[in-house]
Amino acid sequence: MKRIAIVTSGGDAPGMNAAVRAATLKAINAGCKVFGVKRGYQGLITGEIVELNSMAVSGILHLGGTILHSARCPEFKTKEGQEKALANLEIFKIDGLVVIGGNGSFLGAKELNKMGFTTIGIPATIDNDIGCTETALGFDTAVNTALDAINKIRDTAASHDRVYVVEVMGRNAGFIALNAGLAGAAEAILIPEVEPDLDEVVKRVKANDVRGRSHSIVVVAEGVFGDPISGRALSESSAMLVATHIREKTGKDTRITILGHIQRGGSPSAVDRLLGTQFGATATELLLAGETEKMVGWNKSEITVSTMDESIASGNKVDLSLLELADLLATTY
Ligand code: ADP
Ligand code: F6P
Repeated sequence: MKRIAIVTSGGDAPGMNAAVRAATLKAINAGCKVFGVKRGYQGLITGEIVELNSMAVSGILHLGGTILHSARCPEFKTKEGQEKALANLEIFKIDGLVVIGGNGSFLGAKELNKMGFTTIGIPATIDNDIGCTETALGFDTAVNTALDAINKIRDTAASHDRVYVVEVMGRNAGFIALNAGLAGAAEAILIPEVEPDLDEVVKRVKANDVRGRSHSIVVVAEGVFGDPISGRALSESSAMLVATHIREKTGKDTRITILGHIQRGGSPSAVDRLLGTQFGATATELLLAGETEKMVGWNKSEITVSTMDESIASGNKVDLSLLELADLLATTY
């Protein structure tokens, strides 16, 4: 293995740069040439592939986003697109590819594998919905961003005796909502994994009033009423639906805050920098050891290695006992 390439794909996630840096430096240290693919799989198709030396990855550990840029690339889902990508990898004489991304990116990596090309995956998505790792890159930073927002919203909610519905990211997974909601002492948390009970939310808002706490915060995952991207008009956000119901049933002054892409940006937390650094170095080690179709992960405080197949098949499941705990704490008066 003399020439390796690195690609960041799908939604960007804080900590991707840490992984790019560590994978690059580890490979240079082992005598390899390293290349960065620009704009996810799009750059493989168009041949936008540049050499990365140590200076190219210097000063990036603390930066959010990805210096390689990322993209969603529908063309790569086609056989034609994959063949163009493989041809470019051959033109650049790349021996192995580190794919930093989410489940979709790993499905793409598997297509390259099927064509005989070596790939190693690094899990990165703020959604944290990737199997075979307790934590994906970017999740910790996103939760801290959402929590910071909830803290600030609580100040103004308390001052004005209002209800705030805070919508966080998560089309299919409630990890951000659950962790930020529990850490932010939300009165209710709604996640896609659990059928929403809006009457229960109303009950809690009213009960809060009765006990003299006249503000409430409800944290809602964007996908609690189905996939917001393909399934719903932009005006019908989850926050809007929940807030409308609360306002109608309680008469309380109710506002919404949709955190949106703020959660994807920002300097990575220490956790994401450390994870990204170890993931990147391990991915290069695996490539150099001749492994393929593997994904690095973080489980029980250790770096682990699984196959991409295992990861895709298992997915990551939210711990519903955390939701039960949040509910108990929010309804004990
Ligand atoms: P993520 O990797 O964060 O889950 P996406 O689902 O958007 O993000 O996937 C990233 C990219 O991976 C897609 O834009 C596409 O290029 C590629 N991809 C996704 N699914 C497949 C698939 N079934 N086959 C081949 N490539 C795929
Ligand atoms: O996959 C990460 C994520 O941020 C999801 O939480 C969100 O639903 C989606 O990406 C948004 O995607 P885009 O930036 O393409 O609109």
